[in-house]
Amino acid sequence: MAIWNLGSINADLVYALPHLPAAGETLAATALDRGLGGKGANMSVAAARAGSRCCHIGAVGPDGVWAVDRMMEYGVDTRHIAKLDIPTGHAVIAVDPEGENQIILFPGANRAIPATTLGAALSEAAAGDILVMQNETSLQAEAARMGRDLGLRVAYAAAPFDAQAVQAVLPFLDFLILNEVEAQQLQAATGKAPQALGVKDVIITLGAKGARHFDGTTGEARDIPALPVTPVDTTGAGDTFTGYVLSGLDRGLPMPQAMAQAARAGALMVTRHGTADVIPDLKEVRDARF
Ligand code: RIB
Repeated sequence: MAIWNLGSINADLVYALPHLPAAGETLAATALDRGLGGKGANMSVAAARAGSRCCHIGAVGPDGVWAVDRMMEYGVDTRHIAKLDIPTGHAVIAVDPEGENQIILFPGANRAIPATTLGAALSEAAAGDILVMQNETSLQAEAARMGRDLGLRVAYAAAPFDAQAVQAVLPFLDFLILNEVEAQQLQAATGKAPQALGVKDVIITLGAKGARHFDGTTGEARDIPALPVTPVDTTGAGDTFTGYVLSGLDRGLPMPQAMAQAARAGALMVTRHGTADVIPDLKEVRDARF
């Protein structure tokens, strides 16, 4: 099977700061790192490092050739990344000493992915494959509808959260993955808990408290505990978790095992500075001692 990811590709500019800036504050960074990021690229790299065949559907500008090359080096199928005359997306990320972050996004080419690129990619997909999206690209609703029509298992990570964007794809979803705050925001927008919206599998990530899975078929909820780590940078940990969960399911693991492996990957990730470039591979995840 394969994972098809309609996802963002960003250059991440990561500034280490003594604290997250307040409104109107000027603050000197203690370090600057540049790397590959974007919620989409992070998930694709995680899925590939977890052992899946992952094809990324996206777009970069003339300044993004390095990002595509790097994704390919990390094992992602990059044939369906369009090269546009629009700058590549980037993110300005502030990280404090506790590992918390603030992110400013410049969407760039991520919001101009051509419909022909999406169509060409999904024409290669097979029923039962997984299609995943996040809210950093164009064509989300179109992709979700196409995915459902083609018999793909359609997954959505509701970040950055936008109630309208989730509601546009909701009728087509098999998996919905969101964090606690996003779950509250979705409940406020719909009047229903996320697990009551008719999606087969809903995962709510709970940070240091782990993650909860709601099985829409049986009505059961199951908690997966978090692992004890001291975070230095939480950026990209949620994306790593999602990429690993989907990869586990793609490789035939039952949901509890897929989530447990994803929790280990996410835990390792928060002990590292950076995003796509430092996502652990399956061997590191299996060998890690917590
Ligand atoms: O989730 C982390 C990601 O959000 C970063 O890599 C950044 O590019 C933004 O998309």
